[in-house]
Amino acid sequence: MNKRISGFSKLSKEEKINWVTSTYFSNNEEEATYILKKYWNQKQELQQLHDDFIENTVSNFYIPYGIAPNFVINDKDYAIPMAIEESSVVAAASLVAKFWGERGGFKAEVLSTQKVGQIHFIYKGDKEYLNEYFAEMLPKLHISVKDITKNMEKRGGGIIDIELRDKTSELDNYYQLHIIFETKDSMGANFINSCLEKIANTFKSEQIDIVMSILSNYLPNCIARAEVSCKVEDLAVDKPELFAQKFEQAVAIANADPHRATTHNKGIMNGIDAVVLATGNDFRAIEAGAHAYAAHSGTYKSLSHCEVKDGIFRFWIEIPLALGTIGGLTNLHPLAKFSLDLLQNPSARELMEIVAVAGLAQNFAALRALTTSGIQKGHMKMHLTNILNGLKANRDQVTYILNYFADKPVTHSEVVRVFEGLKGKQPKAD
Ligand code: MEV
Repeated sequence: MNKRISGFSKLSKEEKINWVTSTYFSNNEEEATYILKKYWNQKQELQQLHDDFIENTVSNFYIPYGIAPNFVINDKDYAIPMAIEESSVVAAASLVAKFWGERGGFKAEVLSTQKVGQIHFIYKGDKEYLNEYFAEMLPKLHISVKDITKNMEKRGGGIIDIELRDKTSELDNYYQLHIIFETKDSMGANFINSCLEKIANTFKSEQIDIVMSILSNYLPNCIARAEVSCKVEDLAVDKPELFAQKFEQAVAIANADPHRATTHNKGIMNGIDAVVLATGNDFRAIEAGAHAYAAHSGTYKSLSHCEVKDGIFRFWIEIPLALGTIGGLTNLHPLAKFSLDLLQNPSARELMEIVAVAGLAQNFAALRALTTSGIQKGHMKMHLTNILNGLKANRDQVTYILNYFADKPVTHSEVVRVFEGLKGKQPKAD
């Protein structure tokens, strides 16, 4: 029997669940239905809001929403919201916030905010004629989108430039209109795509065959920068010079080797994605753009940089961050709105700074652990409760085992051994 269906989206939510559970959980329909419904929100209107975000919603997928307090950015205090399932990320952010808060805090700035949209087309005719046609059409292209751009222009945004690009050396007969936008406090995806489709419609001709019109997530001119620095001696670890040297080497290694750079940047994205998600922004767009930027030299490299010079330790990041604080889910999702309120309602530029800081903080935490005690010590301590939940340990067992491992290294097998040893015994906390 095949497991396919047509018209799934037209079924009611109840009918969708019935179909899914009877088709894929025929031995355990009741339990499967129970799990899906257990995560429904009791408040009908809130559930309806989530149902409406996407097609075919049957439940909600929770991930933890945590707060990393004590961030000082450009001399202003922040408690940063993070939506993430990985055990150690919020703890690491909080530790690093406190560490750098005591050393002058983070300095952050936005270097540029330009967004890009492209109209890709095929043209087989004379290049001279295409250039002339483009010059003649340019004012008309601007006029064609006036009804869409007028509100954005009132906010100081709009279309900055429209350029004809000859891409025929990369692909036969391929050209594009490369368009630069300023979208102020919105991420601007819908605005950009609507403009592009209108411009493409105006620009097309018998000879100009439009293939597609879409924004680009590669935004090397929409960059935030965050930095920390202090005297090497103030790094306040056992041997500060050695620490600074190893830390610098760790960043240099990420610059020299794409395997390491990928993991290094993954650690940065732990911090970035968590804030991007918590503020209702599009973390896939940010991920794609960050990794493309990491490869902009032609080789995939570290997004962060470190320099130890004249007794000063400097560590910084430059990363493209196309973020919004209005539009999209930012004001629609109640927790995204809460996050922005918690961040004291930042502009898009300020949010770019905060997110860059979250990435740098996470990278600092990872490299500090990796170059000193190793990553597993802290990571496994945080993961211990997940292991105990997986073993279905009761409250007393959890208390006993947390105490037991307070001064011992945590490994999965060791936790299982201690847990098994407790079976049939009444655990006593040390
Ligand atoms: C784990 O999620 C992230 C790290 O692997 C990052 C790194 O290696 O720099 C710890």
